[in-house]
This record gives sequence, C-alpha cells and structure tokens, in this order.
Amino acid sequence: MRGASLTKPHIIIAIDGPAAAGKGTLSRRLAAHYGLNHLDTGLTYRATAKALMDEGLPLDDEDLAARTARNLDLSRLDRAVLAVHEVGEAASKVAVMPKVRKALVEAQREFAATAPGAVLDGRDIGTVVCPEALIKFYVTANPQERARRRYEEIIAGGGAADLAGIVADLEKRDARDAARADSPLKPAPDAHLLDTSEMGIEAAFEAARSLVDAALDH
Ligand code: DC
Repeated sequence: MRGASLTKPHIIIAIDGPAAAGKGTLSRRLAAHYGLNHLDTGLTYRATAKALMDEGLPLDDEDLAARTARNLDLSRLDRAVLAVHEVGEAASKVAVMPKVRKALVEAQREFAATAPGAVLDGRDIGTVVCPEALIKFYVTANPQERARRRYEEIIAGGGAADLAGIVADLEKRDARDAARADSPLKPAPDAHLLDTSEMGIEAAFEAARSLVDAALDH
C-alpha cells in the first residue's frame, strides 16, 4: 500500500511490559520521532481509580467503576496527579474488572484509530487493544534495575523512598498484573523483546527505531 498514495500510513506502535521497565520513555521518544500521538494506557486505569477515590466511592463495585471508566475524558489525563503510589495501587484493583477493561479498551482503540496514528503503552496493547499494530515491543528489565530507576525518580523529585520496599511493591504489582484472568501481562507472540536492564533507554530507542523503520519499508 505504501507508495500507492501520498497520504502518510496510519501507524500504530504497541508497547507492553511490567512497571518501570522504560516503556514510558521509549514510547514518548518513538511518538516524537514518528510524529504520532501517544497514550500511556496505565493513566486510564489510574484516572478511573482516582475518580472513584475523589468521590469517596468504593473500588470494588464493578458496575460503578465501569460507568466511571466510560465517562473518562482521555484528553484530560494529568500524569502528575495520577502518578502517586496509592493511585497506582487502586488502579491495579480496578484493572482486574472485565467491564472496566472493556470500557477503557474501547476508548484506547478510538485513540489509536485517530490520525496520524499512535504509540500506545500498557500491558495488553499488542495482545488485546491493537493486535493489528504495525509493530509490537515487549519492554522488560530485571526487578532490581526497575526498582533502582523508580527509587532514583522519587529521590530526584525530592521525595523519600525505601529501595527494598519498592522491590517488594513492584513484584507484588507484576504478580497481580500477570495473574489476572482478563488480559494478563504477557508478550504478544509477534512482539520484539527489549530488555533494558543493561542496554539503557537510549540504546533501546535506537534498537526500536531501526525495527520500526524496517517494518515501514515492508
Ligand atoms: O503502568 P501503570 O503503573 O500506570 O498501570 C497502572 C495499573 O493499570 C497497573 O496495575 C496495570 C494496569 N494496566 C493494565 O491493566 N492494562 C494496561 N493497558 C495498562 C495498565
């Protein structure tokens, strides 16, 4: 199809992996490089949980959480407000609910379908949300390295953190994300694996970029 018309192709890049593996930085770099929209889908689960928390509503009522998810405005996701630890914990609870996932996946697909295309990062982008993506990456790093990055982020932001606590926390979060029945965290069979434990984010970006360029040339 490429070359048949002068319009740019609609590109979707799917990026999955566990917490703090470097998905966010890689996704933002790729989106900027290819001029695509970017959605951190974790923020959609976080925003759903935060909206319930703000209203003092329970986190274990699936119909209520799904209604809240359907009312979400994806253009108003505030990373700074949603990044806090307790919102992440609450998000991983609503993320196990199939009705919440259905509502958010619908919104995420609409985002992906908007021109000129998008980079989406999360846990189930290549497997469920955009199985037709041009290219898929599964980004990992060992838990010690992921915890160290998260620790340094918190310290750099002027906060206080405890490294052992962060390791324990990430392992608990990974286990919950991987064990849930609906859309568990796992690489799509056709995903490219990028382990950022040793290569670092810049090398990961270069590796991803050459794979995307190769996919675009096909
Ligand atoms: O990546 P994060 O920490 O912002 O994600 C918050 C929670 O949402 C986490 O428990 C995983 C879940 N999540 C998900 O189930 N599916 C996605 N596509 C993105 C995040």
